[in-house]
Amino acid sequence: MLSRSNIIQRFNSTSSGISSFKTAAKKSTTQATLSSYSNNGKKNVVILGSGWGGISFLQHIDESKYNVTLISPRPHFLFTPLLPSTPVGTVDEKSIIEPVVNFAVKKTKGNVSYYEAQATKINHLDNTVTIKSFSHVNPFGDSKNPESIKKNDSADIKYDYLISAVGAEPNTFGIPGVQEHGMFLKEIEHSPKIRKQFIENIERANLLPKGDPERKRLLTLVVVGGGPTGVETAGELQDYVDQDLKKYLPSIAEEVQIHLIEALPVILNMFESKLTSYAQKVLEQTSIKLHLKTAVSEVKEKHLIAKTKISDTETKTEEIPYGTLIWATGNKPRSIVTDLIKEIPEQQGSRRGLLVDEHLKVKGLNNVYAIGDNAVAGLAPTAQVAHQEAEYLTKVFNKNQVGSAKPFKYLHYGALAYLGAEKAIANITYGKRQLYTGGGLITFYIWRVLYLSMIISWRSRFKVMSDWFKLALFKRDFFKEL
Ligand code: FAD
Ligand code: NAI
Repeated sequence: MLSRSNIIQRFNSTSSGISSFKTAAKKSTTQATLSSYSNNGKKNVVILGSGWGGISFLQHIDESKYNVTLISPRPHFLFTPLLPSTPVGTVDEKSIIEPVVNFAVKKTKGNVSYYEAQATKINHLDNTVTIKSFSHVNPFGDSKNPESIKKNDSADIKYDYLISAVGAEPNTFGIPGVQEHGMFLKEIEHSPKIRKQFIENIERANLLPKGDPERKRLLTLVVVGGGPTGVETAGELQDYVDQDLKKYLPSIAEEVQIHLIEALPVILNMFESKLTSYAQKVLEQTSIKLHLKTAVSEVKEKHLIAKTKISDTETKTEEIPYGTLIWATGNKPRSIVTDLIKEIPEQQGSRRGLLVDEHLKVKGLNNVYAIGDNAVAGLAPTAQVAHQEAEYLTKVFNKNQVGSAKPFKYLHYGALAYLGAEKAIANITYGKRQLYTGGGLITFYIWRVLYLSMIISWRSRFKVMSDWFKLALFKRDFFKEL
C-alpha cells in the first residue's frame, strides 16, 4: 500500500513534468534545483501551506491553466474551529483533519503536485523557494525515476507566482518559562498532549489524600488568554469535568479548578459588550475562575506569576500553582516570513506579517502573494478571511486578470464562540447588516449547524456529525494514548 507521503506526490502530467533536476555538490543532504513543468508553456503557481489559505486556493485554482505545486510540512488540512473540542474527546482528532491528497485527487485537469516539505527560504531574486523534504518524493511513481527527493533533502522549487499561506505560530511574547512548561492548541498534535497530561495529573492526584496541596495543584488547569481559543478550550475542559469525569471520579471532579487568565478587562473582545458579559456569566456559572486585567509575566515548572491591575498605579502579584497550563495568547509571524520582511525595503517595520496591497500582492515584490494569517491586510487573522482571500485570488488567476483585477473586498459573516455547558454566543452578519445576535442553547445549535456548513469536506462533516451523535448517547473518548 502506498503511504500517504507517497500518494500525495501526485503529478497528472504524463512524462514531461519536471524539466530539470540537478544534484549539486553533496553535503550532508542533497541540494537539488527543481524547475517544475517549465516545458509545457503554463505558468508555475507554488502554494506554501495546507491550511485555510493554501487548501482553499488549491480547491479553487483552475489546474488546466497553471502547473500547481503545494508545499507544506503538514500533510493534512486542519478544521481549526473545532480544535478546542478535541483535547477532551468531544470531537475526535481525525474527524477534523483531511489529508491533502483528498483535495489533490480532485484536480484532474492538469499538473498538481504536493511536497511534504517545509519551505525554509523564499529566494525572491531567483523566483525559487528552498524546501526541506519531510518524506521520500517520487513525482511520477516510477521506481527508475531519478528525479526524486529523499527525506531530509533540500531542493529549490521554481515559481512564476508564489502564494504564501504559511499561517502563524503561537506567540509567547518571550515570557520566561512558557515554551518549556506551557502547551499550545494550534495544531492537531497539541490536542492529545493536553489530554495525556490532564489524565496523568488526575491519576497522580487520585493517589494523594484530600487537602494535600499537591493534589490541588495537579487538579488545577490554567488557560492563559481570553480570546476565542482560550475561552472555547476552557469551556470544553469544564464540560468534560461536569459531564463525564463527575460520573467516573466524583471526588476528583469536584476538586478540578479551571482558571482563565486574560490581560484585558474583558474576554472575547471582538464581540459586543452584551455578549461578552453573557459569556463571562456563563463561565463563572460553570465554575471557571476568571482573572481579568491579569497578565501572566512568568511561568515556572509548577506555578506561574500573574499580575492583576487593581488601579492605574497599583498591581497585585499572585502565584498560581498549576498542573496543566494551556497558552493561548495569539500568534506571531513564522521565521520564513520575518526573514523575507528583512530583505524587502517596502516591508520594513512590519511586525505582524507580510504587508499586502489591495490585490493581496506582497508589497515590494511582483509575483508573490500572501493570504491568511501571514498577510497583513488590515483584517483579523481568521479562517473566513483566509478562505475569502484565497477565493478572490483564484478568481483573479483563473480569469487571467493578474495585475488588472478589482481589489479584494472582504465580506464579514460575523463571529461565533462556544462557551461550554451547551451555550454559545454569535453575532451573525452579512457585511454591515446584522442578521442575528444572541447567546444560549439555541445559539449553540446555530453554532453547530454553521460549523458543519463551514467544514470543507463531506468526509469530515460526516465524522463530526457522528461524533456529536455519539456524544448524545455515550461519554467522550478520553484516552491517554492510542
Ligand atoms: P493555517 O491554517 O495555520 O495554515 C498554515 C499552513 O502552513 C499549515 O499547513 C502549516 O503546516 C503550513 N506551514 C507552516 N510553515 C510552513 C513552511 N515553512 N513552509 C510551508 N508550509 C508551512 N477562525 C475562524 O474564522 N473561525 C473559527 O472558529 C476559528 N477557530 C480557531 C480555533 C483555533 C483553536 C485556532 C488556533 C484558530 C482558529 N481560527 C478560527 C483562526 C484560523 O484557524 C486561522 O485564521 C486560519 O487557520 C488561517 O489560515 P492560514 O492558511 O493563514 O494558516
Ligand atoms: P487572540 O489574539 O484572539 O487572544 C489572545 C488573548 O490573550 C488576548 O485577549 C490577549 O489580551 C491575551 N493575552 C496576551 N498575553 C497575555 C498574558 N501574558 N496574560 C494574559 N492574557 C494575555 O488569540 P486566539 O484566541 O488564539 O485567536 C487567534 C485568532 O483566531 C483570532 O483572530 C481569533 O478571532 C481567531 N479565532 C476565532 C475563533 C472563533 O471565531 N470562534 C476561535 C479561535 C480563534
